Amino acid sequence: MKNQKIVIIGGSSGIGLETAKQVISLGAEVVIASRSEDKLHKAKEMLGPRAAAYVLDTTDEQQVKSFFEQVGGYDHLVISAAETSGGSFLQLETDQARKLFENKFWGQYYAAKYGAPKLSAQGSITLFSGVVAYKPMIGSSALGAVNAAVSNLGQTLALELAPIRVNIVSPGIIDTPSRSKMPENARNQFYDTVANKLPVKRVGHPEDVAQGVLYLIQNHFVTGTILHVDGGHSLT
Ligand SMILES: NC(=O)c1ccc[n+]([C@@H]2O[C@H](COP(=O)([O-])OP(=O)(O)OC[C@H]3O[C@@H](n4cnc5c(N)ncnc54)[C@H](OP(=O)(O)O)[C@@H]3O)[C@@H](O)[C@H]2O)c1
Repeated sequence: MKNQKIVIIGGSSGIGLETAKQVISLGAEVVIASRSEDKLHKAKEMLGPRAAAYVLDTTDEQQVKSFFEQVGGYDHLVISAAETSGGSFLQLETDQARKLFENKFWGQYYAAKYGAPKLSAQGSITLFSGVVAYKPMIGSSALGAVNAAVSNLGQTLALELAPIRVNIVSPGIIDTPSRSKMPENARNQFYDTVANKLPVKRVGHPEDVAQGVLYLIQNHFVTGTILHVDGGHSLT
């Protein structure tokens, strides 16, 4: 990891930010990118001089292209950027479902497409899927489909972009700022309900998933793997 340059799109919050902290502690340099200048500024203050920050919206293909032109050569790509939502299939506006694909699927597609040519041949890409692809849940029809699409994209790219390794991490329910808009009581209740059903009896922390990402980056015999970091959720 020492002196490796790791690009983390979505590195200003949650799992991406924790991954940035962990790779920096192992001697890497990171480039984090996301839409909000404010989040990026706070994250950069936390990460220190080994981090650079760029404003980027992954739903804009041209922005993604010019982002990688600015970044230049690098060693590993992690794409944790996503803004997700759910809702009953019959009531959810179709446009909301499309937005989910725009953000989480096409965002990762563009990042892999324009990020791969600048990666070192020993490099890797880590994409983000999620448990609702493997444990279907009421209210997550669009998100489940997005996550399944990301997993398949990743496995196909593991063949097509070789020798670059491409892996997918599938988090379970993780306590991150992604649920900050939920009232605290409702959020805690949701976490308790999920925890009680899981073999590990707790929801995940960003650290749990970041450790999984580090494994995927560091193990050069691993490609095309879907790593479930979900406390056994997909088995329940
Ligand atoms: N937390 C969970 O329970 C859970 C469960 C399953 C899967 N996951 C997946 O894990 C990944 C990380 O989630 P998280 O919980 O760490 O979320 P988070 O704390 O909300 O972080 C998401 C990051 O993505 C950035 N982002 C969102 N849309 C973007 C866009 N269009 N372009 C660029 N950056 C964008 C956000 O920053 P800006 O707002 O500044 O853009 C933020 O830095 C996501 O793929 C998520 O779907 C999470």
